[in-house]
Amino acid sequence: MKKPLRVTITGAAGQIGYALAFRIASGDMLGKDQPVILQLLEIPPAMDALKGVAMELEDCAFPLLHDIVTTDDANVGFKDTDFALLVGAKPRGPGMERKDLLKENGKIFGPQGKALNDHASRDVKVLVVGNPANTNALIAQANAPDLDPRNFTAMTRLDHNRALAQLAEKTGKHHTRIDGMIIWGNHSATQYPDIAHCSVDGKAAPELVDQGWYRDDFIPTVQQRGAAIIKARGASSAASAASAAIDHIRDWHLGSDGKWVSMAVPSDGSYGIKEGVIYSFPVTCKNGDYEIVQGLEIDAFSRERMTLTEEELREEREGVKELL
Ligand code: NAI
Repeated sequence: MKKPLRVTITGAAGQIGYALAFRIASGDMLGKDQPVILQLLEIPPAMDALKGVAMELEDCAFPLLHDIVTTDDANVGFKDTDFALLVGAKPRGPGMERKDLLKENGKIFGPQGKALNDHASRDVKVLVVGNPANTNALIAQANAPDLDPRNFTAMTRLDHNRALAQLAEKTGKHHTRIDGMIIWGNHSATQYPDIAHCSVDGKAAPELVDQGWYRDDFIPTVQQRGAAIIKARGASSAASAASAAIDHIRDWHLGSDGKWVSMAVPSDGSYGIKEGVIYSFPVTCKNGDYEIVQGLEIDAFSRERMTLTEEELREEREGVKELL
């Protein structure tokens, strides 16, 4: 039998955590032959609720689940961990500016980065889900100087999957028939869902849909999908966010079979996006690593949007520079 891998979930008693833990324990993320140990991290007021989550996990009798650790101490939660899903974050309070939210979250992601640095596996793969996800990932990365900076990523896979769903609906084809979807930039309203390189059943997507729909309907629908879910459900997306987190780590660990997926990763100068931000790019994954898809032609329309979302990330970076 394979050696169990350790998976830490922060905010594990929250909505997304509750949707995540059971699917990971059932093998959806790391494979149906990979035993796991779940290390669930919460804050003290949520420890009772977390105990309930752990009790339910036990009651599922998952064959792959070898142990459950519950803790409010990041040094314990990240001990020897192989995968860290940083979901727990402070929500925006009434009247709170984005700047204040960034600072409040910096107080969480700085210490968590340090705890990862001091206690996690040297190959730990980190996915930040808690918002503002890209900049939280940057803060965690900056506080973990002994770990590979490339292993700090943020989630735009939910946006990617939302874009697939919209294009599938429009073209009447199943989303598995779509290749080449891209989300560029920040996981925020400035993200740029780009179909310029997409194909549907082998046909170029820009030739299948009219530009008016693409610019005035598709792009804002994907950008605002989170708000639409809150309006409809009375709560923010949780199961779909958890599912996207599973897709992100599964592809990173097991490979994407040549398919492009969107991951927010440390910028390396690709497509003119200068270093220093965690920016969503199209990537392929193989052998436990990711690679940014290179050589795509970028037209003026795309460039403008890619720059806009980059500028937002640079502003966010500026707002937390004392935490980096
Ligand atoms: P939630 O409020 O239901 O759960 C958050 C949990 O985190 C709570 O149980 C809270 O006690 C815990 N927590 C807070 N600070 C913590 C800390 N320092 N250490 C450990 N745990 C801590 O929220 P939900 O719905 O689960 O969402 C979590 C985050 O994910 C939010 O920031 C949300 O904006 C973000 N999100 C990101 C998406 C993306 O695509 N990147 C999509 C959907 C949500």
